[in-house]
Amino acid sequence: MISNCLGKNEKGHLTIGGCDTVDLAKEYGTPLYVMDEGKIRATCRMYRESFEKYYGGQGMPLYASKAFSCKEICRIVNEEGLGLDVVSGGELYTALQAGFPAEKIHFHGNNKTAEEIAFALDSGVGHFVVDNLTELETLNRMAGEKGCRACVLLRIKPGVDAHTHQFIRTGQIDSKFGFALETGEALAAAKEAAGAEHLDFKGVHCHIGSQIFDVAPFVLAAEIMVDFIHEIQKETGVALTELNLGGGFGIKYVDEDTPPKYDAYMHSVSDAVHRKCGEYGLPVPYIFIEPGRSIVGEAGITLYHVGGVKEIPGVRTYVSIDGGMGDNPRYALYQSSYTVVAAGKMDAPCTEKMTVAGKCCESGDLIQENVMLPKLEPGDLLAVLSTGAYNYSMASNYNRIPRPAVVMIRDGQPRVIVRRESFEDLVRNDV
Ligand code: LLP
Repeated sequence: MISNCLGKNEKGHLTIGGCDTVDLAKEYGTPLYVMDEGKIRATCRMYRESFEKYYGGQGMPLYASKAFSCKEICRIVNEEGLGLDVVSGGELYTALQAGFPAEKIHFHGNNKTAEEIAFALDSGVGHFVVDNLTELETLNRMAGEKGCRACVLLRIKPGVDAHTHQFIRTGQIDSKFGFALETGEALAAAKEAAGAEHLDFKGVHCHIGSQIFDVAPFVLAAEIMVDFIHEIQKETGVALTELNLGGGFGIKYVDEDTPPKYDAYMHSVSDAVHRKCGEYGLPVPYIFIEPGRSIVGEAGITLYHVGGVKEIPGVRTYVSIDGGMGDNPRYALYQSSYTVVAAGKMDAPCTEKMTVAGKCCESGDLIQENVMLPKLEPGDLLAVLSTGAYNYSMASNYNRIPRPAVVMIRDGQPRVIVRRESFEDLVRNDV
């Protein structure tokens, strides 16, 4: 199985967190996102423990809430002692509504609005990860007007090619995120930050991409960032004490995916940071990382009921489901690979090559092409695996299709953590 929270019971049904997916579909309806809390918590703990092991506790994992944001996930990661990465006023609001401590939040974004900055300052957000000079000036001015100070990290483009899908590659110079090192832009920004009256310039941040399997680009980025901390100290006299190395660790979507052990990543990066700091005689900074996908991705699945099966002789067979790009736009956007299984027929031989199609009025609304599945009939249940990250959070109401519910399983007990949208919800803001 793709994830260790999944299994198969004596009825030949797929299970998640010990619950029968056929029963879950019956009780909560489909499409349905289902997540296993035990798996999420175990990953959070693994990250926390690796900070103890490799940094003597001098660091903190932040959960990148863009991967999956709702109040309950904020409560869970808070209980596990993680901080939070938010990238909009909406993610910040969600976290605060869940009682997440503002001081453990890092506020990201390449175009934070003045309203968002005011909201974050008023809420006491712990760190602003500043993307550009306009933001730096606005933040400094607004903090001054409010009579407070803002704690700042600068987002740097370390120029590392992370060998991933170009849409989600952000470390290179042609990226809308952050300050470039090569052009001197980053150093100029550091000088501005160091001199800003109402800002505490604490450190630097980088994020080199997402769904990365190689450890090497992370190590290289960490080395470049320590080099830059040293350069800033030389050029400005400011001794930075914090380094946020971003997220991006890959997960398993299909059998061929081979993500590294996250502990191995933590170990290699820690070695690099310690070695570089040793060379420069710098104290090791307090380290943050921001995993999103690796905390929730493999902990989630999506359940769908099959509608029609359309065989086009000599062409292909489409199996239509009751969801699609509205709840999972990732194939339409990135041609992402997914494992699809017949959740109620796990023992049946997979003899049919199928294209799983959504119900939107759009030819590109596919979940996966050419997957091997058993013979299917209307009413059969399909499960798409590893949908815990960037599915619910990227869902839309295209074609006025309500967003599915999210069910979380703890100790074999399911509970709804996000209710299914209703038709009334769809017209709530219509005038
Ligand atoms: N930190 C920053 C600054 C980020 O931009 C991201 C992701 C993360 C952390 C978390 O990265 P993760 O650990 O989840 O890889 N929608 C795309 C993924 C976009 C990722 C954007 N940034 C997808 O569905 O694959």
